[in-house]
Order: sequence, then structure tokens, then C-alpha cells
Amino acid sequence: MKKPSPVSRSGRFTGGPAADVAQFTQSISFDWRLWRHDIQGSIAHATMLQSIGILTRKELTAITKGLRQIAAEISAGSFVWKLELEDVHMNIESELTRRVPAGAKLHTARSRNDQVALDVRLWLREEITALLGEAVSLQRALVALGQENADVIIPGYTHLQRAQPVYFAHHLLAYVEMLERDCERLWDCHSRVNVCPLGSGAIAGSTLPLDRLMVARLLGFVDTEGKPQLTQNSMDAVSDRDFAVEFCAAAALLAVHLSRLAEDVILWAGTEFDFIKIADAYTTGSSLMPQKKNPDIAELARGKTGRVFGNLMSLLTLLKGLPMTYNRDLQEDKERLFDTADTVRATTRLMEALLLHTKVNKDSCATAAGDPSLLATDLADYLVLKGMPFRQAHHVVGAVVGLAEKAGQPLNELTLAQLQSVDNAFGPDAPAVFDLKRAMSKRNVVGSPGTKEVARQLARWRAQLS
Ligand code: ARG
Repeated sequence: MKKPSPVSRSGRFTGGPAADVAQFTQSISFDWRLWRHDIQGSIAHATMLQSIGILTRKELTAITKGLRQIAAEISAGSFVWKLELEDVHMNIESELTRRVPAGAKLHTARSRNDQVALDVRLWLREEITALLGEAVSLQRALVALGQENADVIIPGYTHLQRAQPVYFAHHLLAYVEMLERDCERLWDCHSRVNVCPLGSGAIAGSTLPLDRLMVARLLGFVDTEGKPQLTQNSMDAVSDRDFAVEFCAAAALLAVHLSRLAEDVILWAGTEFDFIKIADAYTTGSSLMPQKKNPDIAELARGKTGRVFGNLMSLLTLLKGLPMTYNRDLQEDKERLFDTADTVRATTRLMEALLLHTKVNKDSCATAAGDPSLLATDLADYLVLKGMPFRQAHHVVGAVVGLAEKAGQPLNELTLAQLQSVDNAFGPDAPAVFDLKRAMSKRNVVGSPGTKEVARQLARWRAQLS
């Protein structure tokens, strides 16, 4: 009898695939990066096979040793990947079996269908943890920049028009809030990634008495109480990629937030705003214009959002209409998933680095925030406190703004007589409304950009992120 081969075409096939078929169907060029998780999964599976008597102790030791050796070689870069062996699973198992005869028993009660689902889950679990770390670091950088410039006030904008004054820190903390929700979504996704599919076989489990709980425990597929988490339907387990979609969706929203932050940074760094100065090392020059210092990191952060959205759409489209259960289409999930994880993680890290190397131009901020029209709403509130209905106060202040415009005078330089020419409700205490410091001290509603409230929020985040 011919020696059994671990290659998927053993037995019924008479020859290998045509050259361009191998090229077309291979995934080794990208799924090799699952090698650590593949080996980790195989060691757990072999350990379980030994515990139920399928492998002897000696065989388990040989398999484990062989796999560790292969891991060392891959890590050192000396392992030779073979395209004709299709994917990371076949490459490793094939090489193991060449070295260790017992390797031929490793794939007992296992299919590449549950194996690949396992590997991707193991890989994604780590990626999510790493991404969460980057997101928290970015939150810290935002809080630090806000804290460093706790006294800086800038105009807040709606429609990109100056609206009302806000502390610069308040603006930054808005992103800290967004990132916090991103972290919550990623953690939530993690709980569904963290479920062990091994033991599902190709589609229908196994006739052998597998100990799935043991494998789950060995691989850390446990909830916060230490309870092992197993997939509950073998057909679902081998064809489910919801967890990948969820990750790509959470990452896409994170990318949206990074892109919005990037856009603010780009605006602020421009001469027209001039609110911040990015350190040279985190900007680039122009090949033609010697004076240029461009915020390329932020622009790429904004630009890379496109591929992250595309990856999510690709995955959803990939899954739509797939008949149960595993279909080779599913191999197309990996590059999209890898790209999203790599892109979002790098972008988060670079945005953090950029912020850590950014200085605030306090003078430009003060000039912009000194625009008295930012306090027009405060003037309406003043009238409200005099007993005027807000709709009327809004109208009156609108007329005051019109008067100032016509007179070519800043709002805060109108005399009491001019104010009273619009409405008699204005008293001698009206000009004090334009005292910016006083105005900021009055914004005490929870979540508003008042002096005390922003200090409280900064303290809360510093404590939460420490
Ligand atoms: N390389 C494949 C993938 O990424 C592994 C599973 C292949 N299974 C199969 N029955 N052909 O999905």
C-alpha cells in the first residue's frame, strides 16, 4: 500500500493539480501568517487525541516536538513554504508528517474546515487585544494633549462655521468618547470570537469521542468566569464568519473616528486655522514647494478608511447567498480581515504618535476664540434671564449682530446705547457677557465645555485610563 500522504488530494486522485490551478487556489501566500495559531491549535488537538487514546504518549511527544521545531524554523525564516501544498495547514502538517510518522494521526477527527475557523479565531483574538491596546494609547494621547493645554479655548464649529467657544480639551475628549465606544464594540466582538469551533470536523463533527471542552480550555476559549466556550452546531461552526464581519464593522467605525480626527488635525495644522504645529518628524515636505510641511499621516489616516470600508463590504458580499456549509469562497475572507486589522492598528498607532508630537499654538487659538460673535448665544441667554422668551431673544440678538455688521464694529464693542436702540431689556451688565473666561465658567451642564466640567471630565479620563 502507498504511504498515506497528508495532501488533500490523496487517495482518489491520480495526479496533482494543473499549475495554474495550484496558483489560483493557493492561500499560503497570505495565510502563512496563521502559522503560530495553527501550531498552537494542533498541539491542543493532539493533546486531546492522546487523552482519549487515539495517540500514545510517545506519539504525542513526537508530534509536539516536531511542531515546536517547525515553529522555530518558521520564526527563524528558514522554513520553506510550498505553494503546491495550498495553505498553512497543509504545509505544516505535511512537513510534520515527513519528519514524524505519527504526524499522520494528527488530522484525526479534524478537517481544514474547523481548523481554519479555529486558526482565524485564535489570530483575531490576539489582534483585537492588540488593537484595544492601541486605541487606549490613543485615548491617553488625546487626554494628555488636552491636559497640557487645559486653559486653551477655541471656537467650536458647526457647518465649519464658528459657533460657540469650547475648551480645546473638550474637543479632544469628544474623540476619547468615540474611541471608548469603539473599545466596547471590539470587546463585545471578542466574546463571540472567543468560541472554540474545533471538533466540528468538516461539517458533521466526529464519531470519535472527542473532548471538546479540554481543547477549549487548552486554547483559552473560556469566558470571564473560566467557563469553556464551544460552538454548538457543527454546520454553523465551519461556515460562520460573523465574527470576522463584526470585527471589520467595529474596525470600520473606528476608522471613521480616526478619519474625523485626522480631518480636524489637517484643518488645525493649516495656515488658515494655525491651531497646532506638528513636529517635523511627523510631517512630510513637498517635492516642488520648499515651504511646504504636509500632514500626510493624517491624510493617509483619512484615506485608508476607504479600504477598511471596502473590506467590510467584501466580507458581507462573500457570505451572502453561500449555501451551507464550508465553501472555498470562505478562503477569500483572510486578506480582507488581515488588511483591516493591519490598517486600523497602524493608523491608530500613527495618530497617537502624531498627537504626542503636536504643539498647540496658544496665540492663534486665543485670537480665534476671542471672536465675540461666538458669544451671541450667551447674549440671548442674558435676555432670557431678564425674562424674555428665547425666540424673541434670538431675534433681538440677531438684530444686534446685524447692527454691529452694518456699523463695522465687533459685537462686544457696541455701546449700551446701541444695544438699547435694538431693545430696552439690555442693561449696564450686558457687556460683561463678552468676558470669555466668565462665559466658560457658566457652562456647568453635564457634558458641556465649561471650566469646571471639562476639568472634571479630564480628571475622570485620566483616572479611567491610568
Ligand atoms: N485554505 C482554506 C481556507 O482558507 C482552508 C480550508 C480548506 N478546506 C477545504 N475543504 N478545501 O478556507
